[in-house]
Amino acid sequence: MNLSVFSYCVDARRLSLPIEWKEIFGREAELVVELGFGNGEFLVELAKKNCSRNYVGFETSLTSIVKVQKKIHSEGLTNIRVFMVDGFFGLREFFQDESVESIYINFPCPWPKKSHSDRRFTKSEFVQTVAAVLKKDGFFQLTSDVDWYVNDMTCLIKKSGYFDEITVLKNENVVFGTRYERKWISQGKASYTVKAIKVKHATVERWTWGEIEMPHVHVKNIDTEKLLQLKGQIFQHDRGVFVVKDVYESVNEYLLRIVSNESNFQQRYFISVERKGEGWLIKLDPDAFAYRTFVVKFSVKKIAEVISS
Ligand SMILES: C[S@@+](CC[C@H](N)C(=O)[O-])C[C@H]1O[C@@H](n2cnc3c(N)ncnc32)[C@H](O)[C@@H]1O
Repeated sequence: MNLSVFSYCVDARRLSLPIEWKEIFGREAELVVELGFGNGEFLVELAKKNCSRNYVGFETSLTSIVKVQKKIHSEGLTNIRVFMVDGFFGLREFFQDESVESIYINFPCPWPKKSHSDRRFTKSEFVQTVAAVLKKDGFFQLTSDVDWYVNDMTCLIKKSGYFDEITVLKNENVVFGTRYERKWISQGKASYTVKAIKVKHATVERWTWGEIEMPHVHVKNIDTEKLLQLKGQIFQHDRGVFVVKDVYESVNEYLLRIVSNESNFQQRYFISVERKGEGWLIKLDPDAFAYRTFVVKFSVKKIAEVISS
């Protein structure tokens, strides 16, 4: 397979979920996942050492996505793909149950402020997702310089009952020289690691599976005054919330810039309202896509309901 430098990053918003990994990699192989790979040293090192496995990395930083692709390309590796999306969301939505061999997290952002605690991986829903997507006897490992973060994860893993052989280590050289590992070592900090083996299967609800159709609504007439007043309006759903940030107007077309939030998973996208024959079509704009989650589908229907006259 001949890949160009920026072809290792896949936009899963355009795929039907869960992902058919065989189609993505062009072969079937054991899957290994890293969440928050940063500069990608660990992911690339693992993929180099184990050519027979397929590696999937998640990052939220565009700089990291660009850097890692240059590294993958210069190493000539074909067994890594990366996604610019929240790792918890990707783990839950992209993988079938019992399909992943190992999951790694190295030096996750600890989000020490209480008001940011929702952004941590240390939640029971996350542990349950790990236990859903890992194969039986699959491996989970988290390393951090923050002892309470590893303690919290260890408690959640133990309490869940889905794991065995739970081991906590201090200053074990388990990471292949990542930027943050080097940074903390140079500051004399310790590193803490929790490792565990999945022994019992968990189930989790997926938000996007089976959605191939783009959400869209046809209406006969629209109330343009109501449409133009949507800017700044907030709409609640039992799964989350969306806000209309802006409304742009052009000939026979309106574009609404939306920000949605569901259990701390944020998306930014556009809903278009365009003339179609005798009526109007309200749909997710194909140029600024979103994952078809509960709130995204709700936003299209809600906008249609509010502006139809
Ligand atoms: C402290 S850095 C560690 C990077 C790398 N693992 C290392 O050891 O050098 C944490 C990384 O996680 C990424 N990140 C934070 N939240 C994330 C999330 N929910 N999903 C995926 N990546 C995330 C950040 O962009 C950042 O690159």
